Amino acid sequence: MTEQAPFDVAIIGGGPGGYVAAIRAAQLGARVALVEKDRLGGTCLHRGCIPTKALLRSAEALLEARDASTFGVVVREATVDFGAMMARKRQVVAQQVEELERLIAWRKIAVLPGEGRLVGPGSIKVGDELVAAGKIIVATGSLSTRLPVPGASLPGVLTSDEILELEALPERLVVIGAGVIGCEFASIFSALGARVTIIEVLPRILPPVDEEIARRCQQILRGQGITIHTSASLQEIRAEGERLRLLFGLGKEQQEVVADRVLMAVGRRPCSDDLEEAGLALRGGSLAVNERLETSVQNVYAAGDVLGLYMLAYVASYQGIIAAENALGGRRQADYRAVPNCVYTLPEVASVGLREEEARAQGVSYKVSRFPFSALARAQILGQPSGLVKLICEEPSGRVLGVHILGPRATDIIGEGVLALQMGATAQDLAHTMHGHPNLSEAIYEAAWGIIDSPFHLRRL
Ligand code: NAI
Repeated sequence: MTEQAPFDVAIIGGGPGGYVAAIRAAQLGARVALVEKDRLGGTCLHRGCIPTKALLRSAEALLEARDASTFGVVVREATVDFGAMMARKRQVVAQQVEELERLIAWRKIAVLPGEGRLVGPGSIKVGDELVAAGKIIVATGSLSTRLPVPGASLPGVLTSDEILELEALPERLVVIGAGVIGCEFASIFSALGARVTIIEVLPRILPPVDEEIARRCQQILRGQGITIHTSASLQEIRAEGERLRLLFGLGKEQQEVVADRVLMAVGRRPCSDDLEEAGLALRGGSLAVNERLETSVQNVYAAGDVLGLYMLAYVASYQGIIAAENALGGRRQADYRAVPNCVYTLPEVASVGLREEEARAQGVSYKVSRFPFSALARAQILGQPSGLVKLICEEPSGRVLGVHILGPRATDIIGEGVLALQMGATAQDLAHTMHGHPNLSEAIYEAAWGIIDSPFHLRRL
């Protein structure tokens, strides 16, 4: 067994939690080791955010080409070359990974290839090597899960990892779970021409989203031809030659649907298997940390999906920064008051802060203002007038409690809502801030005017 030169900080896992922690530690002047068994980038870059959004962009390009005549552009025939779409997705990912590797090398961060295992405070084993480090950050991420129903592991029943490697577009896709992953893939594959059915156990799609917004999104997805069964519980999947038959309960009835491929999108679990052996306390399978992201073992910190809190790339990076700063003497606490929620369906959904049902349940005094994109010039110009901004503010202070958006580029314009929440801004702050024109973020501005008076470009709500 050989021993590596000691580092100030060693990080296990090179996803958005770990590699951002590594960069932050390097910015602060530390000698940093980053242990990764695959290539750098984690789920986000290889099997999550980036490849799915690359495919979504292909789906959008197809829809734009089909809708080109609306804009006075003649496109003879727009068809899907699924192989070329997948190749472009691979190329986008490869470009990002190569750039990340260059960035990490430029920061003089030592990348140690192999599976890292914590063997005690201050010591990690990577393959046959022992790596000594003053501080350790665990950022081992999460894995897709499957439902424990008969047939869940049949060939053709895929997780989000495997669906990204398909070679041909399935004719009929059944998606189990209408969470973020399920709805995003349903949107993409439906736009590409697959017949998509969603089976969701809860009474509506997108459980973490404001109920009104989720229901409107559900209507739009149904209008696009996606079949959505809610309050439906999958019982069994059977192989029938090349096809799969799914049996599910819907109320008192039993129903069936046939698919060429099935996507299991029923959640992810933290990669925490060998952490308990190393003496780290877990809570319900997730690595337990305090608000400073310290684990139960001194000098060991953690960030990202392994904490089982949000399982979002940008939350992982936020935690990675805090873990790195605290490992190097800081005392920052993680603050989750303004965590954006971005769903890349067509149209997009994005939100931050309290949902209306939460505000109601908490007995908060609040006012709601809605502004539809159909009344906004930029949305009309884009030809994407569906959806709305829903702003929830405390009464009488006007403090922004929640911003919920369904519509074009919702995931971009939510940034303003996130900042509003983070800074404790009021509707008046938003309304008294100039917004560029014509611009999608004007929908937030108009909704803010709806709280303090009335929107400018709306005759009635
Ligand atoms: P999820 O927990 O968000 O959703 C799982 C869905 O499956 C829920 O709607 C749940 O009610 C449903 N479900 C559970 N058991 C079921 C059953 N027996 N039958 C039918 N439906 C059932 O998990 P998901 O979508 O797999 O995502 C995993 C994680 O990845 C989440 O934390 C998500 O936020 C994150 N993610 C975030 C993205 C983004 O921010 N754009 C994109 C993709 C994933």
